[in-house]
Amino acid sequence: MAIRQDTLWEQFLSPVIQSLLDKEQMMAVRDRIDWQGTIDRYQAPEFSYPSYYHTQNYHGIEGGYLTQTAAITYDPITQYVLPPYEPWVRQSLIDRVRTQPRRILDLGCGTGSMTVPLKQAFPGAVVTGLDLSPYMLAVAEDRASQAGVEIEWAHGTAELTQFEAGSFDLVTAALLFHETPPAIAQTILAESYRLLSAGGQLLILDGNQRTLRSLEWLSNVFEEPYIQAYAAGNLDAWLGKAGFDDVETTDVFWINQVTRGVKK
Ligand SMILES: C[S@@+](CC[C@H](N)C(=O)[O-])C[C@H]1O[C@@H](n2cnc3c(N)ncnc32)[C@H](O)[C@@H]1O
Repeated sequence: MAIRQDTLWEQFLSPVIQSLLDKEQMMAVRDRIDWQGTIDRYQAPEFSYPSYYHTQNYHGIEGGYLTQTAAITYDPITQYVLPPYEPWVRQSLIDRVRTQPRRILDLGCGTGSMTVPLKQAFPGAVVTGLDLSPYMLAVAEDRASQAGVEIEWAHGTAELTQFEAGSFDLVTAALLFHETPPAIAQTILAESYRLLSAGGQLLILDGNQRTLRSLEWLSNVFEEPYIQAYAAGNLDAWLGKAGFDDVETTDVFWINQVTRGVKK
């Protein structure tokens, strides 16, 4: 797997974080998964990836999320980039769920690191995780099976899903919006609005736009192609434009934020 050599991430941070990673556990995940079988199961032969996604080397990994490397390193690395403690940051989204949801959709679910805690918090709900990367979904399936929870996984774009209008009462997206160009982010918001039933809630956990604006260097560190455009934007305004009411953003340990919107 080719990794770019010239980046701050590659030169300084990646070696530090790599020395902290539990390589045995990563290899155990890799070896448990039937990669080709899982990819063939999720990725329809005619599926074509949007260019904003498949042309980017997210986090300095050539091929971005469409690689085994991205999928098996995602969780071990993410625990170090969600300070002060990843479970607290993720709990901050769960704490903002207003009602008992029955049908939850987690967009850009990745390896299920938000989807599985959601299912554990709301065991009676039918939970679906959707992602563009079948590699990430392969790890998500493994995580759910290790946790003993049942989740439906789907492959596709968050901006144009196959689900019927009004089929969810909670839509979530954790760490998705800083990874998409703002025009796509706004299409995802419109799609989320369509997917929610009346009274349904959208919850977005992501980098704190205000903090990111004041720390431009931080935006460059993690090799995120769209993070500066994300930081320059305003999720509250984007949700308002998509038709959401009761829009509110709350800081989460300064580095992150949770944004809520309700479909009236
Ligand atoms: C930073 S990861 C976040 C994963 C997970 N939600 C979490 O909280 O850790 C971003 C995920 O979004 C997915 N993604 C990016 N753009 C997407 C899109 N347009 N539709 C669906 N998934 C997308 C990527 O494949 C990746 O798995």
